Amino acid sequence: MIYFDNAATSWPKPEAVYKAMDHCMRYVGANPGRSGHKMSVEAERLVLNAREILAEIFAVEDSSRIILTFNATDSLNLGIKCMLRPGDHVITTCFEHNSVIRPLRHLEQKGIIELTVVNCTKEGILDPRDIEKAIRSNTRLVAVIHASNVIGTIMPAEEIGEIVSKYDGVYYLIDAAQTAGVFPIDVKKYKVDLLAFAGHKCLFGPQGTGGLYVGEGIEDIMPSLKEGGTGSLSEQEVHPDFLPDKYESGTKNTVGLAGLAAGVEFIMKTGIEKIHAHEQELTAQLIEGLQGIKGVTLYGPQDAKKQTSVISINVDGFRSNEVGYYLDQKHDVMTRVGLHCAPLAHKRMGSAPDGTARLSMGYFNTAQEVDAVCQAVSKLAKSGPQT
Ligand code: ALA
Repeated sequence: MIYFDNAATSWPKPEAVYKAMDHCMRYVGANPGRSGHKMSVEAERLVLNAREILAEIFAVEDSSRIILTFNATDSLNLGIKCMLRPGDHVITTCFEHNSVIRPLRHLEQKGIIELTVVNCTKEGILDPRDIEKAIRSNTRLVAVIHASNVIGTIMPAEEIGEIVSKYDGVYYLIDAAQTAGVFPIDVKKYKVDLLAFAGHKCLFGPQGTGGLYVGEGIEDIMPSLKEGGTGSLSEQEVHPDFLPDKYESGTKNTVGLAGLAAGVEFIMKTGIEKIHAHEQELTAQLIEGLQGIKGVTLYGPQDAKKQTSVISINVDGFRSNEVGYYLDQKHDVMTRVGLHCAPLAHKRMGSAPDGTARLSMGYFNTAQEVDAVCQAVSKLAKSGPQT
């Protein structure tokens, strides 16, 4: 069985993740930070541990700036909906996931915001100067994906940060769903105000985990999205305004956070550079292997240094879902097919409306698996129309 769907959710997880979650379920099953008894205090300690290790991996000094959410979509909705006011203008790109595009289009359709979607090349390459050119007097937010979930292209996050930081009243949001955990991210270097991430992808946590980094001063201008029980200031009928409670309420996914913390610890121990280097090697090998197969179209930069370990393909004579079905049924290779919740990207790449078959690798994939996948794709391509 070969799992090449890590861009959707990473699998398998490091052994420590399974152990931490099992331990949490069995022995630390109480409500974190509410009840004051030993087990509740221990559960809160697990939550704090997750917050602190996440702060460390993104070079965030104050861990209360890490808001724990349930996934990247949750984080993006919080950042987008709470930062924007009537009359604001937002700049984004044509390679965004629906988790950015849909909340923005929703606000636009309600007449709340104006939206500019900046074009990229069909390889997903964005010229940061196009972001600057789109800035207007009412621009409030620049929201950019860190790496495309369809073709892996890495966006010029640092250059965009430099540009945005020159404009007073313009804030910068990065969707790091595809890069957090495999690509070194330093919030100060990127000059980012809001960084949204998923826990269940490259950070090796389980589904139902994610987070949003909230930059200094953002909490003064960004209202909460939901209010409720926090276990703090319970005598007050109004929600606390301090971090992280301002943006967190209700019982947390403690077991998920215990797993996420173990996943991030694994990354720290292994070294993010080592993980990145391994994925880069596999990516280079897969690109080279697929490039040599007649009848296969590759999308994206086709350069392991310019992308994450995500490669989209099509095979002549087959629809993308047929490619995925064949790989799954005949070769036990798991991929994701279709539009990958990024219809604008496919439109730009010329692969809409059918989409592509996406092969996405992770740290636990091997060179042998890459070879086996190339052989499987080659078999399919040979059975297609020969030109
Ligand atoms: N956003 C995830 C993906 O790209 C689910 O597959």
